[in-house]
Amino acid sequence: MKTLLVTGGAGFIGSNFVLKARQERWANVVNLDKFTYASNSHNLAPLSEDSGHCLVAGDIGNSELVTDILLQYRPDAILNFAAESHVDRSIADPEAFIQTNVVGTFRLLEASRKYWLSLPPESKQKFRFLHVSTDEVYGSLSLEDPPFHENTPYAPNSPYSASKAASDHFVRAYYHTYGLPTLTTNCSNNYGPYQFPEKLIPLVILNALNGQPLPIYGDGQNIRDWLYVEDHCDAIYQVLEKGTIGETYNVGGLNEKTNLSVVKNICSLLDDLAPKENGSYASLITFVEDRPGHDRRYSIDCRKIQQELGWQPRESFESGLLKTVKWYLENPAWIEQVQSGNYHDWIHKNYAGRMA
Ligand code: NAD
Ligand code: DAU
Repeated sequence: MKTLLVTGGAGFIGSNFVLKARQERWANVVNLDKFTYASNSHNLAPLSEDSGHCLVAGDIGNSELVTDILLQYRPDAILNFAAESHVDRSIADPEAFIQTNVVGTFRLLEASRKYWLSLPPESKQKFRFLHVSTDEVYGSLSLEDPPFHENTPYAPNSPYSASKAASDHFVRAYYHTYGLPTLTTNCSNNYGPYQFPEKLIPLVILNALNGQPLPIYGDGQNIRDWLYVEDHCDAIYQVLEKGTIGETYNVGGLNEKTNLSVVKNICSLLDDLAPKENGSYASLITFVEDRPGHDRRYSIDCRKIQQELGWQPRESFESGLLKTVKWYLENPAWIEQVQSGNYHDWIHKNYAGRMA
C-alpha cells in the first residue's frame, strides 16, 4: 500500500480525506498538522488504533522536521491541505496567511524537491506533490460571467486568496523549473461533517440551535458553489491517481446558491428536525455589515476533471445539506469541544461591530 504525507490532516477537509483514505484503504497516512485553532484531533478518533495512520504535530514551514519525516516515512506522495483558510480572519489579521500559505508551502515544496531528487528512478517517476487550492484565486464573477475554468486568469481579492494564489504560483514554478511532479486542485466551497463553525454553514446551524442571530453579510445575494466534502476527497484521490503532472483541475459541486437561500434552507431543515417553540429559525436571520472586498459570485466549470478523470459529485445540495445538519445535531460533544477555547473571542471580534 502507498504511503501519503498529508499536511493539515486534522482540519476540516484534511481529516475527512484521512478518514476516507484509511477506510477505503487508499493508503497509509502520515499526517503533519500544526494544530492551530482550526484543527481537531477528535476528528481522527476513529483512527486511534490504526497503525496505518501516524499523526505528527508540526509546521509545514519547519524544513528540518519535514525533511526528517520524508526520510523516515518515505512517502509516495505529498498532499498539501495545510493552510490558514478563513477569509474573515485574513482580513482581520493577514500575517499568519503569508507565513503558512506562502512561506510554508514554499518550504514544503523545497523539502519535497530535495527528497524527490534523492529517490531511485522508479519511485522518482511515481512521486506526486498535490496542492489543494481554491476557486477564490480566480476572483469574482458577475451573474452574466461564464464559470471559472482552469485557464481563467488569477485575480485574488482577499489576503486569503492572494496567499493561496501565491502558493499556487510556487507549485506551478516548481513543476516548470525543477520538474517536480505537481498537481493542483482548485475547488469551490466545501461543507459537511467536522467543519469549524466560523464558516457560513456550520456557524448558521450552531447559532440557530443556540437561538443566536444568523448573520448575513450585505444583501445575502452573493453566490457560492457548494461541494460536499466527501465528493471533494474523491476528486483529490482521482487527481492523485490519474491526473497529468503539471496540470490543474477545477472541482465544483454544481450547486450555485445565494447565501440567503442557503441560510433559509438550513432553517427549514432545522424546523423539521429540531423545531423550536416560537416559530421558524428563519426569524433569527439578521443582515449585517458586509465583508470588505466581498466576492460576488463563484462558479466552477469542472468539465476537465469530469471528462478526463471520470469524477462526478455524488451529492446534491439537498442531500448533502441534510446529512450535514443531521451530523451537527448528532454530535453535541464535538460542538461543545470546538466552541470552547478562543472560539467566542473570534465570534465577538468578527460580529460585535457588524451587528450594531
Ligand atoms: P481548515 O482551516 O479547516 O484546516 C486547516 C488545517 O491546517 C488545520 O488542521 C491546521 O491546524 C492546519 N495548519 C495550518 N497551518 C499549518 C502549518 N503551518 N503547518 C501544518 N499544518 C497547518 O481548512 P480546510 O477548510 O480543511 O481547508 C483545507 C485546504 O483546502 C486549505 O488549503 C484551503 O485553502 C483549501 N480549500 C478549502 C475550502 C473550503 O471550503 N473549506 C475550499 C477550497 C479550498
Ligand atoms: O470558495 C472556496 C473558499 O470557500 C475556500 O477557499 C475558503 O477556505 C472557505 O472558507 C470558503 O470561503 P468563503 O469566504 O466563501 O466561505 P465562508 O463560509 O466564510 O462564507 C461563505 C459566504 O457566506 C460568503 O459569501 C460570506 C458569507 N457569510 C459568511 C459568514 C461567516 C455570511 O454572510 N455570514 C457569515 O457569518
